[in-house]
Amino acid sequence: ARTAVVIPAAGRGVRLGPGAPKALRALNGTPMLIHAVRAMAASRAVSLVVVVAPPDGAAEVKSLLDAHALPERTDFLIVPGGAERQDSVKLGLDALPPEYDIVLVHDAARPLVPVDTVDAVIEAVRDGAPAVVPALPLADTVKEVEPASAAGDPEPVVATPERARLRAVQTPQGFDRATLVRAHETVTDNVTDDASMVEQLGLTVVVVPGHEEAFKVTRPLDLVLAEAVLARRRL
Ligand code: CTP
Ligand code: MG
Repeated sequence: ARTAVVIPAAGRGVRLGPGAPKALRALNGTPMLIHAVRAMAASRAVSLVVVVAPPDGAAEVKSLLDAHALPERTDFLIVPGGAERQDSVKLGLDALPPEYDIVLVHDAARPLVPVDTVDAVIEAVRDGAPAVVPALPLADTVKEVEPASAAGDPEPVVATPERARLRAVQTPQGFDRATLVRAHETVTDNVTDDASMVEQLGLTVVVVPGHEEAFKVTRPLDLVLAEAVLARRRL
């Protein structure tokens, strides 16, 4: 079984504030995307990485990949992304050569995921799961609310799901390629993760342990945390 990774990196990073597209912003001097590519290429099982670049940023991504040391055993492709994350993942899938039968999808915005997490996801797909997600228990209690119609209005609580049964889902998510392709052809609602599309096909998605360092860089405080984690690793 040959494994490829699609890295959606085409988002603007609106929640991070004004600046370059999120994946191209630096963490301790190196673009977030390069950290994410290295995290995937660190797995000996990964032989191809498809980077889905910001729509007008493919040339810049190409020069970044050329400028940074990356493992020789890994091949790279760059494709321009789309308007929503789901569109970007689809464009990455469309670019995959036929010989890859396991596909991981990994957010460029999770640059620090450890290789052991990547390998655990691949292992679970190799063992026969059509879809695998790394996930962690929650620290906060989660409440479902009726969203306020006007900004600033108090929101009534609708329900409190039992925290022990909830998981916060990360990436890389791993898939049998044919299953993920079918999910992207069938499911048209706007979703925030790929595994939920496979759930909508009626297939079972399994969870493996995630990792604290696989957190998503979303808001400015996440940059502070990411740079502290890198400093602790001396990168
Ligand atoms: N992504 C993408 N194409 C899009 C939107 C998002 O490839 N049209 C990617 C992002 O680059 C990121 C991942 O999907 O690596 C997760 O998305 P998110 O964290 O929401 O990133 P952004 O969409 O860039 O951030 P924001 O929602 O704050 O604008
Ligand atoms: Mg987004």
